[in-house]
Amino acid sequence: MSLTIGIPRETFAGEKRVASVPEVVEKLIKLGFAVVVESGAGDLANFADATYQAAGASIAADAASLWAAADLIFKVRAPSPAEVGLMKEGSTLISFIWPAQNPELMQLLADRKVTVLAIDALPRQLSRAQKMDALTSQAGVAGYRAVIEAANAFGRFFNGQITAAGKVPPAKVFIAGAGVAGLAAIGTAAGLGAIVRANDTRAEVADQVVSLGGEFVKVDYEEEGSGGGGYAKVMSEGFQQAQREMYAKQAREVDIIITTALIPGKPAPKLITAEMVQTMKPGSVIVDMAAEQGGNCELTEPGHAVVKHGVTIVGYTDLVSRLARQSSTLYATNLFRLTEELCKTKDGNINVNMDDDAIRGLTVIKEGGITWPPPPLKVAAAPAQAAKSATPAPLAKKSVHGTGAPASAGTLSLMFGCAALLFVLIGAYAPTAFIGHFTVFVLACFVGYMVVWNVTPALHTPLMSVTNAISSIIAIGALVQIAPPLEGVAEGRPTTWILGLAAFALVLTSINMFGGFAVTRRMLAMFRK
Ligand code: NAI
Repeated sequence: MSLTIGIPRETFAGEKRVASVPEVVEKLIKLGFAVVVESGAGDLANFADATYQAAGASIAADAASLWAAADLIFKVRAPSPAEVGLMKEGSTLISFIWPAQNPELMQLLADRKVTVLAIDALPRQLSRAQKMDALTSQAGVAGYRAVIEAANAFGRFFNGQITAAGKVPPAKVFIAGAGVAGLAAIGTAAGLGAIVRANDTRAEVADQVVSLGGEFVKVDYEEEGSGGGGYAKVMSEGFQQAQREMYAKQAREVDIIITTALIPGKPAPKLITAEMVQTMKPGSVIVDMAAEQGGNCELTEPGHAVVKHGVTIVGYTDLVSRLARQSSTLYATNLFRLTEELCKTKDGNINVNMDDDAIRGLTVIKEGGITWPPPPLKVAAAPAQAAKSATPAPLAKKSVHGTGAPASAGTLSLMFGCAALLFVLIGAYAPTAFIGHFTVFVLACFVGYMVVWNVTPALHTPLMSVTNAISSIIAIGALVQIAPPLEGVAEGRPTTWILGLAAFALVLTSINMFGGFAVTRRMLAMFRK
C-alpha cells in the first residue's frame, strides 16, 4: 500500500512558504504517493487549492483532517507543540528542525514515536546531497531579496549612467560574508550594475567573489578563517581589530552594506559598529541578513527597517518568505529529490536507510529514538588534505591506481616474466625494422599509462582535450598510410594488413574526436542560461 504525503498550511507567524507546489505534487504522485494538501496551504505563495487539485492532490478542509490522513508530512518550519500532538504514531516528518537549538521539540517528537528528517541536518559536503540542500536554495533566495530590499530603500540607481540630465555614479555595495547568501547578493548587485566589494574570513571564497563580478577586500592580518565543513570559526582578537579597521574604511566609502556573516552555533559576529553607521553617507542602506541570530550590525532591530543617523537599517527576518513562490518551488524540489532517495522502488513507500550517509545525517529521530547527532562522516570532505596527512603506505603494497587492490609481488613478477618471454620471441622471428618500432610502441604505452593514471580526477576534462590532440596525430598518421603515394615517390603501397590497421585506427580515433566534441557541447550547454 502506498503512503499519503500531507502538506499542511504553515502556522508560524509571517511564514508565506509552502512545502510543496503543484508541479512537484504531480511528480510525487508519479512516484506512487497519494498527496493531500490543507485548504489554503499555498495561498500566500500564490498556489490556489484548485491548482493542487489539477495536479492530482486532494484537499483537506482543516489541519486536523490533514494530519490524520498523512503518513509522511512535508513542512517548512519546525512543527509547533500543537502540530506534534496531531501527528500519527509511526508517521514521518520532513522539515526544518534545528535539533541543536530545539531540544524540547526533539523530545516531544520522540515521545510521539515518529521518524523525523531534519532538512537542515543534511551533510552538505556530500556532492550527492546538493540537490537536496534546502539551506543553500533558501539562502540564495534570501541573498537576492536582500539586494532588492536595499535597492528599494536606496534613493539612487545601482548602475552608473550618463544622461542629458547629468552623470550618475554607480552605487558602491559592500558585502560582509561571502557564503551562499553573500555570493547570491554579489551576483545580483553586480547584475544591477553596482560596484561590488566583499569580505569573508575564509580566504578560499576570494575567487568565487571575483567570478561573480565582485572585488575581494582582504583584512590586513594573516589568519585562516575556516572552521571545517566549509563554515567559519570565531577569529582572534587581533584579526577582529584589523577587520574592524577595514570595515570602518568601507563604511565611509560605500552606499550599501549587506551583512551575511554567521558562525554555526554562535551568535552572529558584530561587524558594523554604531560609530561606523554614523560615518556612512546620509541615505545609505544596511541590510542585516544575520538579524535573526542577533545581527551583524549593532543598531539592527530584528524584524524591522529603521532609520538611524540617516542610514536605513533593514533587519527583516523573513527575506525568504518575501519571495514565497520562488522559495517554495525550490524547497519543494529539494524535498522531491530527497523523496526520490527515500523511495528508490518508485512504489509510494519509503525506506529510511541508515547506511546511506546522506539519509543518516538527516535522520534526527528514527521510530521514536533520537539519532541526532549523527556519527562523523566517513567520506573525507577534502580528499587532498586527508591524503597528505595519511602515513604513506609501504611502496610494495601501493597499487598503481591508488584505489584498486594492491598487486602482489608474485603477480608482478609473473607479468614481467611473460612480457620478457614475448619480447624474446618477437626478437627472434620479427624483421629488424619492426623491433625498433615495437620497442617505441611498448615504451609509449607504459609512459602513457603512468601519466594518465596519475592525473587527479579534477583534471580529467583538460586531459580529454589532450587525448583529442593525440587523436589528431593518430588520424594524420593513418591518413598518410591510406593515401596513395605522391607522384615521383617510388615507394610501394603498404601491405593490406597495414592499410586495414590504419583504417581501424582512423575509425577509433574519429570516435574519440567527435565524442570529445559532443561531450564538450553537452558540458557547455549546462552553463548556458
Ligand atoms: P553561513 O551562513 O554559516 O555563513 C555565511 C558566511 O559568513 C560564511 O561564508 C562565513 O565564512 C562568513 N563569516 C563568518 N564570520 C565572519 C566574519 N567575522 N567576517 C566575515 N565573514 C564571516 O554559511 P553558508 O552560506 O551556509 O555556507 C558557507 C559555506 O559552506 C559555503 O560558502 C560553501 O563553501 C560551504 N558549503 C559547501 C557545500 C558543499 O560542500 N557541497 C554546500 C553548501 C555550503
